[in-house]
Amino acid sequence: MSSVASVQARTDKAPAEDPGQGADWGVLRQAADAAAANAYAPYSGLRVGAAGLAEDGIVVSGCNVENASFGLTLCAECGLVSALVGGGHGRLMALSVTAGDGRPLAPCGRCRQLLIEHGGPGLLVDGGPTAPPQRLSELLPGAFDAADIAARGGHHGHAG
Ligand code: THU
Repeated sequence: MSSVASVQARTDKAPAEDPGQGADWGVLRQAADAAAANAYAPYSGLRVGAAGLAEDGIVVSGCNVENASFGLTLCAECGLVSALVGGGHGRLMALSVTAGDGRPLAPCGRCRQLLIEHGGPGLLVDGGPTAPPQRLSELLPGAFDAADIAARGGHHGHAG
């Protein structure tokens, strides 16, 4: 499979069943809270943690890292994606984002785009103890992805 086709297969097709279905949401919330405790958020005061179940069964996490140049702030999900890719853990299956209180925090728009590249539309996002998880495709419908680049004759580089 060419690298373009492989990325298309990852992002276009909904899996037969959500691969993150077996995730232990309690474990992910706890890991997100633990990461939030390490957040560097002196400017907003909002300490955010993200934790996710990777394809290889490992839980990866990240926290927000702010900067005096505010626009350079890294969201918790950015750290998580770096840990996922840097550790070679494969695709992201299930995700919980909290502000250290065990309750889900909505991933920002930029992070939804970042996440769909590595978890696809079937990535399950924590809805908290009283709501079902949502598929990322519900949070980011009509996402721009590698297929859009290919459809316009562009190159996206290597799929990984
Ligand atoms: N933040 C995240 O870490 N993830 C999100 O999805 C939403 C926002 C952080 C960025 C900033 O440090 C703080 O929350 C306030 O916006």
